[in-house]
Amino acid sequence: MKLELLAAQRTAAVQAFPVELPDLPLDELRARLGREQVYKLSFNENPYGPSPAAVKAVQEAAAALHRYPDSYGRALCRELAAFYRLSPEQFLLANGADEVINLVAMAFLDPGDEVLIPSPTFGSYAAAAHLAGAVPVPVPLTDYRIDLEKVAAAVTEKTKLIFICNPNNPTGTAFPAPELLPFLRRLPERVLVAVDEAYNEYTDDPAKYTAVPLINAEPHLLVIRTFSKIYGLAAARVGYLIADAGLVARVHRVRPPFNAGVLGQAAALAAFRDRAYVETMQKYNREQRQWLTEQLTTCGWRVIPSQSNFLLVDTGEDSREVYHYLVEQGIIVRPGHGFNLPNCLRITVGRPEENMALVGALMSKNTSKS
Ligand SMILES: Cc1ncc(COP(=O)(O)O)c(C=O)c1O
Repeated sequence: MKLELLAAQRTAAVQAFPVELPDLPLDELRARLGREQVYKLSFNENPYGPSPAAVKAVQEAAAALHRYPDSYGRALCRELAAFYRLSPEQFLLANGADEVINLVAMAFLDPGDEVLIPSPTFGSYAAAAHLAGAVPVPVPLTDYRIDLEKVAAAVTEKTKLIFICNPNNPTGTAFPAPELLPFLRRLPERVLVAVDEAYNEYTDDPAKYTAVPLINAEPHLLVIRTFSKIYGLAAARVGYLIADAGLVARVHRVRPPFNAGVLGQAAALAAFRDRAYVETMQKYNREQRQWLTEQLTTCGWRVIPSQSNFLLVDTGEDSREVYHYLVEQGIIVRPGHGFNLPNCLRITVGRPEENMALVGALMSKNTSKS
């Protein structure tokens, strides 16, 4: 018998993490491209790095690496609870938002349940649904935006969970959180709604776009957050869930005992406290996002208005050629093919020099064409 036939049926529709250029770490990219100067604009990371306070906290925490972490991440959960005016029992830490997504699926889905997923969106929701034996059901966006009317109309008696990415990856579009209220109130009792707010802090008004203040009034609502984006801690792997304490308790049952590590917890706590740093990152991103939007529009592309740290651009033709051209210049963006948007590119808003290099490369391509 072939060994791969021994794998659980649930894994049949799920791919391993890709090994294409946009998915490689910087060092590997430098080696593959044979150049020192590589601009990686494919992962929606914070290009400025973490707060110095987070780096210091990691250095200090390293001395106690022989001890297991606090399984419940109490210090961080207390801090988050105070900030959001909720109770610490409403928070659960994980190895990135990606693990939160898997844990939510594992805790609440049974085989055969349907999971509604406005699409295109972040790929982990469908994978998590498959791994739980459930059935992901894509609901098309309307002009790159999540359409809550369409989502509500797609609910069947089998629907158990709905993932909503707000702002949505890869489109960057967002809707104000109060728009969720009439939607939530139309749903049957058994349906949970998990709102992934990985990019909330990059919106023009994070308070307007977050569903966290709705949690106590709407017990079927779960919110997923991460320290990987504006906090600049993608390597630390810390994400968290916010929900009704009873729901959170169910998710703790499926969680590995020590999923968020000591260094990650220490970094996250220090980064969360450094509000001035977060504000600086918001300002830098807003300025660069605006500049890049204007420049890419000048290139003749449709830039979808973004509330995030990345831009989706429709190039009007298959984006593979321009993607490969940019690779030759040492600039790695994400082609839209993986999102079923073959004419699009998703471009992370980088540091000014990265954005200028990108625009410069595109300008000289256009000049050489004409
Ligand atoms: C919408 C969304 N959710 C979750 C994640 C995963 O975040 P983490 O690094 O916390 O696992 C990402 C990462 O790109 C994302 O885009």
